[in-house]
Amino acid sequence: MSNANAPRGIVVLTGAGVSAESGLGTFRDVDGIWTKYPLEDLATPEGFARNPDFVQGFYNDRRAQLKTSEPNAAHVALARLEAALQAAGRRFTLVTQNVDHLHETAGSQNVLHMHGELLKVRCQACGSVVRWPDDLTSKTHCPVCEATGLMRPHVVWFGEMPLYMDEIEVELSRADLFVSIGTSGNVYPAAGFVQLARRAGARTLELNLEPSDGATFFDEARYGKASDVVPGWANDIMKWL
Ligand code: NAD
Ligand code: APR
Repeated sequence: MSNANAPRGIVVLTGAGVSAESGLGTFRDVDGIWTKYPLEDLATPEGFARNPDFVQGFYNDRRAQLKTSEPNAAHVALARLEAALQAAGRRFTLVTQNVDHLHETAGSQNVLHMHGELLKVRCQACGSVVRWPDDLTSKTHCPVCEATGLMRPHVVWFGEMPLYMDEIEVELSRADLFVSIGTSGNVYPAAGFVQLARRAGARTLELNLEPSDGATFFDEARYGKASDVVPGWANDIMKWL
């Protein structure tokens, strides 16, 4: 592939698997989060309404975990690739289902968190979204409108609309390469991005520990740990720039 054939636009989707080697649990692996905690009590609006303190506590624990987790080689490789592609005038869009901030810590500049962000909280009274690195209780005051007890994690729960969908769909329609990293391909709309990319004529690549539930939709795949396969792939792309 000569420079002229280097991808004009790349869209990368990441899931929990890209952060697994940074010590953050995935959801559906053998010891995944949803094998230990009741998803319907912790990741649905109904669960939050039933027992807000239980949900706040779950996300407080995950927020505290972030304080001791570092980006791994996969996060770093994606940040380097973004910089190299931008310098070469090529489009690069990083969409993540993850709510951690390891892509940003590794240096990624533009991350579309379609499931929200653990380090942000939202006021249900005024809608303000503010950075919140510490514990959140159901009695926390909103720093903007002073409402008490209406702050919730700025995380998209089952049954809620993911974020940035318009922008994501535009980038998928323009990409000539779509790469899915560390996701089981279980949950829509993220699991359907590979089909949107194919419809737009893009080549598709899966980088995962093992074949995901959407594996058959991909033109190519490289299986292994993200910290191995992602830097290898990113270097292959950068060779052509
Ligand atoms: P969805 O309906 O596509 O979810 C499909 C899968 O999610 C189901 O196969 C099941 O595995 C699980 N699921 C969904 N609702 C469930 C329920 N009530 N009980 C048990 N399992 C359930 O997802 P959605 O409802 O359209 O959610 C919207 C978006 O919110 C999705 O993209 C989802 O990934 C996201 N989300 C984010 C978090 C988070 O912690 N960031 C948690 C949950 C959902
Ligand atoms: N390297 C690469 N891939 C890995 C690694 C690793 N070290 N460890 C695990 N994986 C892969 C697993 O093989 C699996 O396919 O990562 C994937 C993790 O899948 P899930 O646990 O289902 O996580 P994810 O796909 O991100 O879940 C999607 O569901 O609950 C919702 O909103 C939540 O964003 C989450 C969404």
